[in-house]
Amino acid sequence: METIKAIMSRRSVRSWTNEPVTADERKIILEAAMNAPSAADARPWHFVTMDDPEVIAQFTQMGGTEMLAESTFMVLVCGEPGKEIYPGFWPQDCSCAAQNMQLAAHDIGIGCVWIAVYPLEERVNLCRKVLNMPEAVTPFALIAMGVPNEVLPPEYRYDETRIHPNGW
Ligand SMILES: Cc1cc2nc3c(=O)[nH]c(=O)nc-3n(C[C@H](O)[C@H](O)[C@H](O)COP(=O)(O)O)c2cc1C
Repeated sequence: METIKAIMSRRSVRSWTNEPVTADERKIILEAAMNAPSAADARPWHFVTMDDPEVIAQFTQMGGTEMLAESTFMVLVCGEPGKEIYPGFWPQDCSCAAQNMQLAAHDIGIGCVWIAVYPLEERVNLCRKVLNMPEAVTPFALIAMGVPNEVLPPEYRYDETRIHPNGW
């Protein structure tokens, strides 16, 4: 898919079939994640992959997350501040990786939604506990994926009033 077309047609998908995300598809999505830009190219990220329904089920009671029970593949994007070169940029680096994943997934016909984790303390703690994560690593965003069971139309959100040429 052409890049602009992927960007302009991507929507959050929250309903999935029980068809699995293939190994090739998972690889494409994780390759896209790790090809993201990061401050000083520090790549301060880790990715916890989940396809065990019992593990995935642990995330369905976070509030508005019941639909995750249908997700066949989830990736928790995590940051490791200790890997940074310029401190403080890890959430931005992880955001770049997460958005690359969303676009790559959409490009290959996989539907996904970004589920907020950081900086919601309760969700951060739940991820740490369920996934047995080390203290040095902070859970950042959960990207829930699967073969889409819904089709959402593209939305056009361009807004001239948010553009401030040559100053505010
Ligand atoms: C930082 C961030 C946090 C989000 N958290 C959630 C979430 O916890 N649950 C959810 O269902 N969607 C979540 N979303 C998805 C947004 O609701 C969605 O992107 C927005 O409504 C625009 O719709 P679209 O993705 O279909 O274009 C999140 C998106 C971002 C970027």
